[in-house]
Amino acid sequence: MAKGLISWAWLKKPYYIQARISYLRVKYLFFTWLAVFVGSWVVYVQYSSYMELCRGHQCKSTICDKYRKGVIDGSACSSLCEKDTLYLGKCLSTKPNNQVYTGSWGDLEGVVKCQMGDVLHYELGAEMEPRKEAALFDKPTKGTSVEKFKEMVFSHLKAKVGEQANLLDLASLVLSVADGNKDGHISLPEAKSAWALLQLNEVLLMIILQDKEHTPKLLGFCGDLYVTEKVQYTSLYGMSLPWLLELWIPSGLRRSMDQWFTPSWPRKAKISIGLLEFVEDVFHGTFGNFLMCDVSAANFGYNDKHDLKMVDMRRIVPEASLREAMRDRRCGEDGDCVFGADCRTSCDLTKRRCTPEVVQPNLAKACLALKDYLLRGAPSEIREELEKQLYSCMALKGTSDQMEMEHSLILNNLKTLLWKKISYTKDS
Ligand SMILES: Nc1ncnc2c1ncn2[C@@H]1O[C@H](COP(=O)(O)OP(=O)(O)OP(=O)(O)O)[C@@H](O)[C@H]1O
Ligand SMILES: [Mg+2]
Repeated sequence: MAKGLISWAWLKKPYYIQARISYLRVKYLFFTWLAVFVGSWVVYVQYSSYMELCRGHQCKSTICDKYRKGVIDGSACSSLCEKDTLYLGKCLSTKPNNQVYTGSWGDLEGVVKCQMGDVLHYELGAEMEPRKEAALFDKPTKGTSVEKFKEMVFSHLKAKVGEQANLLDLASLVLSVADGNKDGHISLPEAKSAWALLQLNEVLLMIILQDKEHTPKLLGFCGDLYVTEKVQYTSLYGMSLPWLLELWIPSGLRRSMDQWFTPSWPRKAKISIGLLEFVEDVFHGTFGNFLMCDVSAANFGYNDKHDLKMVDMRRIVPEASLREAMRDRRCGEDGDCVFGADCRTSCDLTKRRCTPEVVQPNLAKACLALKDYLLRGAPSEIREELEKQLYSCMALKGTSDQMEMEHSLILNNLKTLLWKKISYTKDS
């Protein structure tokens, strides 16, 4: 009976069923078309942004062209341009002006950083100053003696890091790096590469802090392209999300999400001690004081032993250069006196010029970056003390002598507190 009814219904409504099938077909076709359209749009956008971002091979050919013409030379030139033993691997660039690639160089795993010609350089004063392609590698000029080049390096360093007692030692360090093939002489092409590299904050810092454990080593260079040690984990914490999602997530939720993806507490404590040690390395070190102008988690990484390694040192600048740059800057409010993300001075409203002294020392900014990271999951017996110390660290201000005393006291107390807690833990 039921069977009869169904077949009757089938016979009765053929038009309805046909209409439904063609409706489904149209819907199916529409969604397929939509998926193909959106898919190809995404592929196109990804491809064009990849082409825009990843121009390492262009960078390499410019550098190698200069090398072959004998304009520049350096320890990585022949591997990069002749022997092909230095490969550019995965593109890591996030901005076209700073080409970053993983690189393999024989047995070495490194990261290759290359500056693009038609884009911008990070420089103090003008902040972002166009790199003048024609002008680059034009110094020192032909006929410059080694003595003259040494003088050039010396005065450049003096202008960058200020008057320091041991500037000659720093100049010798630079010259020993410049001698790429270690033959005891600096040729004109080597000098041109060294001069171009010396304009980059990150390289200057790599030379100054070459023996410090938290600074990635400068493995080689050719012109202003350089190879540095690869850092395994490239952020203190957090995860990267597609930008579209990033726009929709409230900042509070984003902050706590970042803290979900972190190592165990003892490991976090070890990484944090590394950051405090790095702050010590740059604070009134052998060649002056350096200011960390972007203390964000993405600039600090660590290796598989949980030793902190700096990832990006482009915004760590000599205090002398920052003071010089700020002195001339016009301002209407404190907000006009900022360099990088967080090197702030104040605005002298009577003169309408920025004051040269930074408001916060590096340590206060490092403690702010570490606060949530360290407090989350901290053992209950030290939590209160840790919180107290972190807050007094974040409250550090200015650059007076009094602050320097407080600075080392707070830094040592924090390091001791963390060490004591983790020294017996297997995890650290
Ligand atoms: N030594 C390194 N080892 C491993 N990864 C690195 C190293 N240096 C840079 N990177 C990675 O390369 C990518 C690009 O770095 P880069 O500093 O150019 O961009 P960014 O940090 O996203 O932007 P910006 O510093 O201009 O704000 C980053 O994801 C960074 O983690
Ligand atoms: Mg960076």
